[in-house]
Amino acid sequence: MATRIYVPCDTTALSMGADEVARLIQYHAGARGVDIELVRNGSRGLCWLEPLVEIETTTGRIGYGPIEPDDVQALVDAGLFDGKSDHPLFLGPVADMPYLKRQQRLTFSRIGITDPLSIDDYRAHGGFGGLGKAVAMMPQAIVDDVKTSGLRGRGGAAFPTGIKWQTVHDEPWQSQKYIVCNADEGDSGTFADRLVMECDPFMLIEGMTIAGLAVGATRGYIYLRSEYPVAHRMLDEAIRRAEAAGYLGEDVRGSGRAFHLEVRLAAGAYICGEETSLLESLEGKRGLVRAKPPLPAIKGLFGQPTVVNNVLSFAAIPFILDQGGQAYADYGMGNSRGTLPIQLAGNIRQGGLIELAFGVSLKEILEDFGGGTFTGRPMKAVQVGGPLMAYMPASQWDTPMDYEAFAKLGAGIGHGGVVVFDDTADMAEQARFAMEFCTVESCGKCTPCRIGSVRGVEVIDRIRAGENRDANRVLLEDLCETMVDGSLCAMGGMTPFPVQSVMKHFPDDLTA
Ligand SMILES: Cc1cc2nc3c(=O)[nH]c(=O)nc-3n(C[C@H](O)[C@H](O)[C@H](O)COP(=O)(O)O)c2cc1C
Ligand code: SF4
Repeated sequence: MATRIYVPCDTTALSMGADEVARLIQYHAGARGVDIELVRNGSRGLCWLEPLVEIETTTGRIGYGPIEPDDVQALVDAGLFDGKSDHPLFLGPVADMPYLKRQQRLTFSRIGITDPLSIDDYRAHGGFGGLGKAVAMMPQAIVDDVKTSGLRGRGGAAFPTGIKWQTVHDEPWQSQKYIVCNADEGDSGTFADRLVMECDPFMLIEGMTIAGLAVGATRGYIYLRSEYPVAHRMLDEAIRRAEAAGYLGEDVRGSGRAFHLEVRLAAGAYICGEETSLLESLEGKRGLVRAKPPLPAIKGLFGQPTVVNNVLSFAAIPFILDQGGQAYADYGMGNSRGTLPIQLAGNIRQGGLIELAFGVSLKEILEDFGGGTFTGRPMKAVQVGGPLMAYMPASQWDTPMDYEAFAKLGAGIGHGGVVVFDDTADMAEQARFAMEFCTVESCGKCTPCRIGSVRGVEVIDRIRAGENRDANRVLLEDLCETMVDGSLCAMGGMTPFPVQSVMKHFPDDLTA
């Protein structure tokens, strides 16, 4: 029987030479007459070990990594095809690695294990179980299950998904309704959406199809970050295969109900991730933020009732429908139910994807999983949730990952990206960056954001240059307040958060 060998095909692994590693493994197997079956799986999310090659053995999948093309010959000589341990890159049974073993993978349970484009593999690992149940349920029962799960939007605002779906469900059924997936993943240090789309695309298709059945929408769009060409290829092919197998199209699994899905490439602007700006862009217009109300759930795409959810929100749905909303709600703390896919990035030794129940402390994530900084220097600050969130000092790292606990500190969880800075980071430079980022990415519709961010850069520069420091600090505080209170959307409304956190927690950096 052929030995099955897995070489990941996601962007991280590809950028580290996975294609060449796969080619060389195949070459050496051929040269030695070893019968192998090469599977291009997704990434397990242990980014620092990519490409992580796995060999299927009678005792489970044995890992080696990170493998560079130059390592392949020596690995083969050391018994790679038999899963032998006689090489420094031998990692042992992958499922037993503490980084994976300590996680609670509900959404990412298949990722890295399966072939992303194999429907059979997807089904063999529980895929389409949720959809199978949903087609036999009344739409309201699906919405109720999502409400029971306590799922809150994973794109940043943490709005309860079930309530959003209820609003669209309750709109008159005669109108065309839409399901829109926000896959414009633009927050610093985030890559969980990409991993879902590249490594388990049927899960997103299944989640969006269930949403369509729940609210009566027959058409869906994935608004995909244009810098994700691998995800684009994967999604297009997965949609084609799902249509051919009857999971999408005019008659979803014999339910008599239709759901059609297409990918649309995003416009390449951070603000197009904001849901109303996204809808403008999807309609072919410039990505300008719309005033709310009306909510997209009532007047969204082309003025029709629309569910807009993040990739991770939709990706949580198949588990919820398959295992029941309560099974999901059994994880977590307080009003933060279920699990959070956390992305560990920045100056960190073991960057990667960690899925854990809400309630784990930031410190556990940084130390137990991250293993300290990449540079080996002490950590100074951590920014959780993207470029519009606060920089958190060490005194706050005991905080549990919980939406409310973070909000109390003036911080946020956002999309679950954790970016680490060591003690060489100049936090004044980071505060300036926050304002500068806003000058570049603002849609320009409202004054506090468009003009305020430009003035913000100038005032920070003056403080750093030692010009009228006290007066300029007061001015900066006033400016931040004006932006928070007067901006139309969270872009201008939250840009001050990292700046204010630097003024509060790292004041010496501003005057250094
Ligand atoms: C400036 C800005 C950028 C955003 N970028 C994203 C993004 O890239 N992906 C995303 O899912 N949500 C993003 N959001 C949040 C969306 O507006 C919206 O809340 C989300 O798509 C709703 O889905 P959810 O309820 O599943 O989180 C952004 C918001 C703002 C203000
Ligand atoms: S806050 Fe900024 S991004 Fe948002 S609407 Fe105003 S100008 Fe546009």
